[in-house]
Amino acid sequence: MARLAVAIALAAALFGTGIAAPANAGQAAVNIPFHRYKASPNWKQAVTSDKSRALHLSNKSKTESAAASFPAINEDFSYISQVTVGTQTFDLIVDTGSSNTWVGAGTKYKAGSTSKNTGDSVSVSYGSGSFSGEEYTDNVSLGSGFTIKSQSVGVASSATGFSGVDGIIGFGPDDLTEGTVSNTNVVPTIVDNAYTQGLISSKVLGVYFDPLSGSETTAANGELTLGGVDSSKYSGSITYTPITSTSPASEYWGINISKIAYGTTSVSSSSLPGIVDTGTTLIYFQTSTYKALYKNVPGYSVDSNTGLVKIPASSYSKLKNVVLTIGGTAFTLTPAQYILPQAQVAAWGGVAGNYYSLIGDLGTGDGLDFILGQKFLENYYSVFDTTNHRVGLATRT
Ligand SMILES: *[C@@H]1O[C@H](CO)[C@@H](O)[C@H](O)[C@H]1NC(C)=O
Ligand SMILES: *[C@@H]1O[C@H](CO)[C@@H](O)[C@H](O)[C@H]1NC(C)=O
Ligand SMILES: *[C@@H]1O[C@H](CO)[C@@H](O)[C@H](O)[C@H]1NC(C)=O
Repeated sequence: MARLAVAIALAAALFGTGIAAPANAGQAAVNIPFHRYKASPNWKQAVTSDKSRALHLSNKSKTESAAASFPAINEDFSYISQVTVGTQTFDLIVDTGSSNTWVGAGTKYKAGSTSKNTGDSVSVSYGSGSFSGEEYTDNVSLGSGFTIKSQSVGVASSATGFSGVDGIIGFGPDDLTEGTVSNTNVVPTIVDNAYTQGLISSKVLGVYFDPLSGSETTAANGELTLGGVDSSKYSGSITYTPITSTSPASEYWGINISKIAYGTTSVSSSSLPGIVDTGTTLIYFQTSTYKALYKNVPGYSVDSNTGLVKIPASSYSKLKNVVLTIGGTAFTLTPAQYILPQAQVAAWGGVAGNYYSLIGDLGTGDGLDFILGQKFLENYYSVFDTTNHRVGLATRT
């Protein structure tokens, strides 16, 4: 079902309108649809999976060794894009928190006339999963007419933790590929090669998530834009903020949040480094910020079934907006945006009539003090700009 829906939308929605290419662009940006994976994900595992990913992300500064560890994958909760490698089409997780692109976890790769085995081995671990195999180069197509030649692609001979998907398309910084492929320093990413080969005129990725509504557990028509942003997917202007200098957030798409408020009450007034991450489901703040936030919500507790913060009805009716100041702009999450919709409570393993928050506790932080995952990005269009070392955010349409 999910695959069929993806295929139909892919055929129908390529090259949508409203693309804002950079002013100096000789090349148009390309829009690529993508989708939440699986019709019935196991949402109960989302928090466990997020935490495992977060631990690995935070570990980066302490493990600069060759056997670098990269984030865990929420395969059930991820957004996927259909990507053609050689002549085959694969369902790949769209991940801004890792940078290797690889296939073969599900559908096996068949070497064809355009593929070349580099003879190098590849191995990457991601919190709750990993893969290893051989590194190939092949043509990679993200949309008709948008083909990257000789893209380095991992071909898994073994993979764990990736049921139901074929691999990952990595949109993280290329440094994250260091130490993953033998005899290789940094592996150029899809975005690097699309730029080098003149397919796009800036190394920019725009991400639009289509939020879930009602009781649906799968959403259609998320969209990636390579080489620019899609101005039909956001309103107002994009606030850009530089990549943070604080490690380990700086290793990823890390930025500073200068202020966090609950209503008009400040819960964090010093600059916090953290990351924007398509591969994390929820929104997380480090423990002291998390506690400062929820102490304003009488009776809150961590629900053991869902792993989510549960809020009593008496407090629910008084909830205030959570306001993040990033790059001088206030990004607001209303209670309707950070409380799990009632229609989705059962799917998350919760009890109907209870209220569950999508903002969780990250732990001590230490240089990675928040994660703005899908539940933030479903409200704000995001721009991952390698060329200018910055992240952009805008209100999605
Ligand atoms: C953190 O890094 C250490 C040292 O490399 C490693 O042994 C450990 O498994 C890592 N922990 C996580 C959660 O990634
Ligand atoms: C695929 O790769 C081959 C060899 O690298 C190249 O000659 C060919 O033009 C590529 N095809 C497309 C559609 O880009
Ligand atoms: C981010 O915050 C840190 C302090 O947490 C500060 O040193 C740094 O200058 C800020 N800005 C950037 C771009 O890193």
